[in-house]
Amino acid sequence: MKLILKFVIPLIIVLGIIGAMMVPVMDLVTQRWFIKDLELRSQLVTNTLQESLQPLLLTKGRERKSKIQALLDKVAQDERILAMGYCDANNVLEFKTILFPADLACQDIPTDPQTSANTPLPLMTKTLKGGRFSITATPLVALSVEAEGASSVAVGLSRLIIVHDLSVAERRSGDTRNYLIALILIIGVVTSLVAVLVARWSRKEWMNSMRTLLNEVRKPSLADNLVAPQHQEFQPILRDIKNLMRDLEDNRAISDDLQLHWTPQKLREILSTELSGDEVIVVSNRQPYIHSRVGDQIEVHFPASGLVTAMEPIVRACSGVWVAHGNGSADREVVDERDRVKVPPDNPQYEIHRVWLSKEEELGYYYGFSNEGLWPLCHIAHTRPIFRGSDWEEYVKVNQKFADAVVRDARSADPVVLIQDYHFALLPQMIRAQLPQATIITFWHIPWPNQEVFGICPWREAILEGLLGSTIMGFHTRYHADNFIDTVDRFLESRIERETSSISYNGKITLVRPYPISIEWPPRWLAEVPPGPECLQRIHARDNIPEGILIGIGVDRLDYTKGIVERFRAIERLLEKHPEWIGQFSFVQIAAPSRSSLPAYQHFDAEVRAMAEQINIKYGDGRYQPIILKIEHHEPVDVFQYFRAAVLCLVSSLHDGMNLVAKEYLSARDDEQGVLILSMFAGASRELTEALIVNPYDIEQCAEALHVALSMPASEQRERMHAMRSYVSEFNIFRWAGRMLLDAATVRRKNRFALKLSSLGANAPQLKELS
Ligand code: G6P
Repeated sequence: MKLILKFVIPLIIVLGIIGAMMVPVMDLVTQRWFIKDLELRSQLVTNTLQESLQPLLLTKGRERKSKIQALLDKVAQDERILAMGYCDANNVLEFKTILFPADLACQDIPTDPQTSANTPLPLMTKTLKGGRFSITATPLVALSVEAEGASSVAVGLSRLIIVHDLSVAERRSGDTRNYLIALILIIGVVTSLVAVLVARWSRKEWMNSMRTLLNEVRKPSLADNLVAPQHQEFQPILRDIKNLMRDLEDNRAISDDLQLHWTPQKLREILSTELSGDEVIVVSNRQPYIHSRVGDQIEVHFPASGLVTAMEPIVRACSGVWVAHGNGSADREVVDERDRVKVPPDNPQYEIHRVWLSKEEELGYYYGFSNEGLWPLCHIAHTRPIFRGSDWEEYVKVNQKFADAVVRDARSADPVVLIQDYHFALLPQMIRAQLPQATIITFWHIPWPNQEVFGICPWREAILEGLLGSTIMGFHTRYHADNFIDTVDRFLESRIERETSSISYNGKITLVRPYPISIEWPPRWLAEVPPGPECLQRIHARDNIPEGILIGIGVDRLDYTKGIVERFRAIERLLEKHPEWIGQFSFVQIAAPSRSSLPAYQHFDAEVRAMAEQINIKYGDGRYQPIILKIEHHEPVDVFQYFRAAVLCLVSSLHDGMNLVAKEYLSARDDEQGVLILSMFAGASRELTEALIVNPYDIEQCAEALHVALSMPASEQRERMHAMRSYVSEFNIFRWAGRMLLDAATVRRKNRFALKLSSLGANAPQLKELS
């Protein structure tokens, strides 16, 4: 169908253009042809009539009139002649047939004294009451005769008038035009269908012959009943053919991907059609719902985590299992005997499988190796990574614990496992060891540093080997994917194919791909959020902000990578440079406490509080505060109220894989108002190019961006917002997951194909190349 459309649509366009050019030409040609025809016909009629008419004209008597009239009536019966008339030498219409136009008089038909008798004057066209007519006037022979028995009659220059109905010509020309268009269309459609069929057939034939060739070259020789040595001379060409076939299949997958409109439903379809309905198992450290005991109540919270924001709609759509650390104070109270709990609490759609960690495990694996080691290592935020042997040991132990949990959860030998983030670098290999057929997609939600920086990690080889257990290794940007490939190149003996972005290590291939993450569109929380003006009112009341003051918003975890200090400096500079904003603009910073038992986070907390206080003392008064710092957890519905109320959102990360707050702010602004100021060091800046892109270290530039945002006309805000919203609505989280799953499906298909080939006698290295 797609192929047909590809041919038919351009063909119809081309034919349309040709038709549009040809139709006027054809009209002209048919008109000319018709006029010529009329002139000839007139000539013929005149010549034929002449002989009978002239003697009659010269007669006198009672019969003269009736005979001439009868003669003209007879000639006018020809369907191509509308009427006949005769103008005498005094230019009086002496005879006319019944259909002769009533408003046509002899005086209206010019004479030309130059024209010889019996030669029709050129055809003339007249519009009269009854329509458009063409008229030929033929001068008859000038006579002055003494007729026998009659007095002398001066016939003079009389004229025979023939009237044709032009609508006949127009009808004919219209008919010709329609036939022509129909002909062009039929030829076009038939040609394109034949072309499509031939193309399909040739492609199929070609693929079949290639497959036959591949099999022929690999098959044992039947003649001598020995396994023939490989046809070495065919190897280079075979490799080229395989690459070509791979490209063809990849191209098909990409075009399929582009034509899909990504929704949860589409994602479910892909799972059932492309991945044969296998269960999807997601693994992350952070769980999507945390049950906490507050007095005698159990409360449920949605954590502040970009990873959770992105993954939750996916797991809901796939009805999978989410394996995560159960860290809530009431988590154990709500799980079943298999440590599972159904969520979302108000409308259960999937299960969280909670894994319990001891205090030591949590300290070493989560706080230690993950967040004091890998987190600062991967972010350029000038906080030194700390690597302790004891943390590493816990990290290995906990990764194994999660691997065992996943293996227990798997219902088949080849489940689809989606591993999330830097907490689980060893998990892919550990799962692969127990489930060799599993499709393991690992997504690294944070940046990947260059190989020099990564080389700092004392366990760099083990981490890389662990990750290369993945079928697909995903990053937000091509830049981070390339950094990963370079790092493997530097520290492991592996075969890297830059062209296909794949790494072959220990006989196993890992595809390394950029998949920019996104959000659900529209986020489900928005359904509970009132319109902008109401949100603004609520926030003014809740945060004691005087009426009329514009609000800016920043929403982050309280993390040193987020550039919160730099953001405050920019606000201070704005008020210094543009004092007109003092008392007119307040910035609300929501900062969810995070990893707060770590010294780096405690120092950062203190620094942020001190800075806000200092600016508030400098520019605030009892009533007005330039910075409203809210270091506490906010549920998504509250956060979206701030998004709707704020005239600007400032994302000033010093380094960030993607940053979903930027995308969430856009999603909240269905009024297409508000300005996004976005750090050039956040992955999102590659996609949201209509934001005001800033370098967070450049305080002057950020202050100016704030001023520009506050003064931006509504029309410009609308233009920018509209463009970014359309982009994110299309490149939503379902597309992100769908693209990874489609790639995974392609790998699975190729693996199955390779297995079939191996059963036909292909050797192992060739199989690896295909995987
Ligand atoms: C980042 C990480 C996530 C993590 C989130 C919150 O976005 O990439 O893996 O869940 O921060 O951090 P936390 O330590 O609270 O889970």
